[in-house]
Amino acid sequence: MFDTVNIAVMGHGVVGSGVVEVINNHSQSIAKKAKKEICVKHILDLRDFPDLPYSNLFTKDFKDISNDDSVKIVVEVMGGIHPAFEFVKECLEKGKSVVTSNKELVAAHGAELLKIAGENNVNFLFEASVGGGIPVLRPIAQCLAANDLYEVYGILNGTTNFILTKMIKENMPFDEALKLAQQLGYAEREPSADIDGHDACRKICILASISFGKHVYPEQVKTEGIRNITLDDIAYAASADRVIKLIGHAKLMEDGKISASVCPALISRDNQLSSVEDVFNAVMVRGDAIGDVMFYGRGAGKLPTASAVVADVIDCAKHLQARKYLSWDEGEDDYVVPAETVKSRYYIRAGVENLEAAKEEVQSIFGDVAYLSRENSKGELAFITSLETEGKLYSKIDELKELKNVSVLHVLD
Ligand code: HSE
Repeated sequence: MFDTVNIAVMGHGVVGSGVVEVINNHSQSIAKKAKKEICVKHILDLRDFPDLPYSNLFTKDFKDISNDDSVKIVVEVMGGIHPAFEFVKECLEKGKSVVTSNKELVAAHGAELLKIAGENNVNFLFEASVGGGIPVLRPIAQCLAANDLYEVYGILNGTTNFILTKMIKENMPFDEALKLAQQLGYAEREPSADIDGHDACRKICILASISFGKHVYPEQVKTEGIRNITLDDIAYAASADRVIKLIGHAKLMEDGKISASVCPALISRDNQLSSVEDVFNAVMVRGDAIGDVMFYGRGAGKLPTASAVVADVIDCAKHLQARKYLSWDEGEDDYVVPAETVKSRYYIRAGVENLEAAKEEVQSIFGDVAYLSRENSKGELAFITSLETEGKLYSKIDELKELKNVSVLHVLD
């Protein structure tokens, strides 16, 4: 028989209830793997759940967890930064290991909390914060440890990928696809975190921090969502054998700084990311020894996310007396280079009064560009610029906006 390890779960929403479910349904196989019986002793939630078979475990008072010395591992699945940050910090300081799926918390305070975990010889693990059930952080930190990693990018948000897939494959307008995503429980009623790119931004911050060793903060990352993508943009992209995907991207530069962004991009059908559809996520990592590695799977959902959380709990239970080596340094103000200095190509769609005159004006401002064409594009012009720094492209777009003959409708990276 195995010793028992008591754990507490803070938050009994979708992920929290999934964590309790997975632990209860797999108790024997988990015990075999952890070499310990994992026992949920407390569940923190402000709501009442009188009908659950484990309703006796609920508390509304965090102190019941933090003051209970028999609780060795705490799962934080409340979401948001406050009070999650204060609760996690206190648990680590009291010698409890913490597992979280909270990307907002890790993206804002990861380096700080990892440091506190190190000082208290406990673990702070957060595999579920990126890619839901896809193992990606542990493989980057451990299995790819022999590599110098230099680029990480991918489709990091399931909700926006679902919406874009509906737009691409079924010609469904954005508003309708968003409504469907809400009905299916993918998008929140207040969908901004997903559709405006903030969720993907937090995930690329965590991926970049773990890949390159220094914290990247969300406010350092140029972030744009998919709110303004129309079926016209989708059709122009298709005419060039491309699809529009929301891409989180981070790259190490020669001077040791990094570029980082989240924005919709026109992805060639040849690129593996173009065939990642619906709520699936995919993360591409590039290292000097391994080359390209891609991680693919369900990036969200109750049981996929709970699967990653419980795996971290098992890891903590197996390493109660030892620390899993995982940390990165605090960030710096100038670590992420300004977006204006990064080279990029832009897709530009504009309404025009006189097509031939507009083409001449585009040529004189941008030089050679690649025009896109599609059916019924009367009175419109769409093109992809050549590679230039974003700063130069911004000022050229400003020049374009000044023209009487042209009204800029949409610009994409
Ligand atoms: N809202 C997120 C997504 C959930 O759609 O990917 C997982 O972080």
